[in-house]
Amino acid sequence: MCGIVGYIGNKSVVDILLDGLKQLEYRGYDSSGIAVRCPDKIKVYKAVGKLENLSAELMPHRSEISSATIGIGHIRWATHGAPTALNAHPHTCNCGNLVLVHNGIIENYKELREKLTALGCVFKTQTDTEVVAHLVARKYAETKDLTEAVRMATKEIEGAYALCVLHNDEKDKLVATKRNAPLLVGIGEGEYFVASDVPAIIKHTKKAMYLADNQIVTLTRNSMKLIDENGTELSQKVEVLPWEPVALSKMGFKHFMLKEIHEQPDVIRNILVGRMHSCDEPVVLNEVNLTKETLKNLNRIQIIACGTSLHAAMIGKYIIENFCGIPVDVEASSEYIYRKTVTDSHTLVIGVSQSGETADTLTAIKQSKAKGSHILIITNRPDSAMAREADSLLSVNAGIEVSVAATKSYIAQLVSFYLLAMYMAEIKGSLAESDLKSLKAELMQVPQKIEQILSNKEQIQHCAKVYANTKDFIYIARGINFPTALEGALKLKEISYINATGYPAGELKHGPIAMLDNTMPVLSILMKGSVYEKLLSNSEEAKARDARMIALTNSKDEKLKDLFENIIEVPDVQELLSPIIAMIPLQLLAYYIAEFLGKDVDQPRNLAKSVTVE
Ligand code: AGP
Repeated sequence: MCGIVGYIGNKSVVDILLDGLKQLEYRGYDSSGIAVRCPDKIKVYKAVGKLENLSAELMPHRSEISSATIGIGHIRWATHGAPTALNAHPHTCNCGNLVLVHNGIIENYKELREKLTALGCVFKTQTDTEVVAHLVARKYAETKDLTEAVRMATKEIEGAYALCVLHNDEKDKLVATKRNAPLLVGIGEGEYFVASDVPAIIKHTKKAMYLADNQIVTLTRNSMKLIDENGTELSQKVEVLPWEPVALSKMGFKHFMLKEIHEQPDVIRNILVGRMHSCDEPVVLNEVNLTKETLKNLNRIQIIACGTSLHAAMIGKYIIENFCGIPVDVEASSEYIYRKTVTDSHTLVIGVSQSGETADTLTAIKQSKAKGSHILIITNRPDSAMAREADSLLSVNAGIEVSVAATKSYIAQLVSFYLLAMYMAEIKGSLAESDLKSLKAELMQVPQKIEQILSNKEQIQHCAKVYANTKDFIYIARGINFPTALEGALKLKEISYINATGYPAGELKHGPIAMLDNTMPVLSILMKGSVYEKLLSNSEEAKARDARMIALTNSKDEKLKDLFENIIEVPDVQELLSPIIAMIPLQLLAYYIAEFLGKDVDQPRNLAKSVTVE
């Protein structure tokens, strides 16, 4: 989390920094700040809340800083210390000469803080970052060289960091470094950019260098020098970014989330292009290097992910076991990394991540890679840190997702799992030809079915109004749609702050049923198939406790009208593909409830799109 930018060149820096931070807002948005080099000294400006507050804060100072051409900026997602102006970055040492921005977590900040306090440093903030400012400043006092000061300081720091540093006494210099946090340098004509991610620099340059862990880069207007942690100079691996600048526009939609929900039919079409030509031809996954031999040697598959990606993974398990007969475990990355996991070269480890950056998933992937497992990454960012760890890469091609609540990236992950499972089933010969054919034929129809839902949103908007003022919401389902219930509940929680929970319906009577009364909405994801009748009985049990019953269904059964006070109908679809169709109305329901309640749909409180801290 947190985004950092830096610039050194000949252009006015303020708008470059503000625009860069705007592009990184998905990484956090609780406060922000910039530091710019003015002729007399480096000046720091900060504001709490959204980036527009920083722009407003800068207004009265514009004329005095407009000629500045060197600066650093930060957008924060608070980890240590509340989101206040004091805790916002940039941070400085006591004399104010050393100024820096940081993304990551300094794990040994308490020890460092004690040590530095004993040496006379006075701490002003509650952040972990401030120790780095004091530490680098002390090293600078010894060395009088900013690069060397940063290098020496980072030897004492434990944890994750991307840092961008300026010093009053080094007038034409910007130093940056990283460990376990992303950072790249953009290279222009007589100018350099530093950023946590590509969107912050892509409108200025396509030439860039990704920093590897512990590398330190020293930038002046006309030079770039790269060293390792021992001070040895390294050659620079400059690449051309395969990106085009995109103007992020809502295209007439009120929010990015609604726009992204509407993009889903095309997202699916995109994924299928070149990968599934017809029902009679095998799935083509060129980036996946799973041979018959590798698959034959596999004992099992482990899928690791967080949040929405974890829900996609749970559906992935269901599909892969069903199509391929290989046992699959799914685990939250944050749990996986802190226990003794059993994994080896006979395990295929699949990491699922929209951003490809999530710290827990990245760590889990690195751990399994070290044990010899084949690593397959399903991500929307083929240029991400996770993608760089992959033996096989499945890029979901959903396009940039701005809204913090994931929608189209989830549907793209699901479709990727269908393709992967069919691909493996074809190599293994584990699924009947006729089943494969019917799955492919129907998968190709799914975009039109989603379009039908999107052009008929009235029932969903009606439900949103009816239930918007509830304090709690329960989603129930069984089988392949249990993860759909979890994801539906997560969407509602994230953007409306309503306490929503997904349950496997058979579990209701083992405890949660005690919560039911005539104030509790229970939404039953009642898709036709193997567990339809079972779920109907579970819905009857909830109704008998007076719950306010809602059905999301592809059934036309008349008797549902007696059981449910509201019914959201979706187009018919076979059970195995139903999680895609069932999810769309749940995204819309969450969206319309949040919108009705006047919430900040695209940037809900306390969240960030890219969770780069463990
Ligand atoms: C989704 O709506 C959430 N914002 C969140 O749960 C997200 O899915 C999770 O943080 C994992 O992110 P990733 O897919 O980028 O790894």
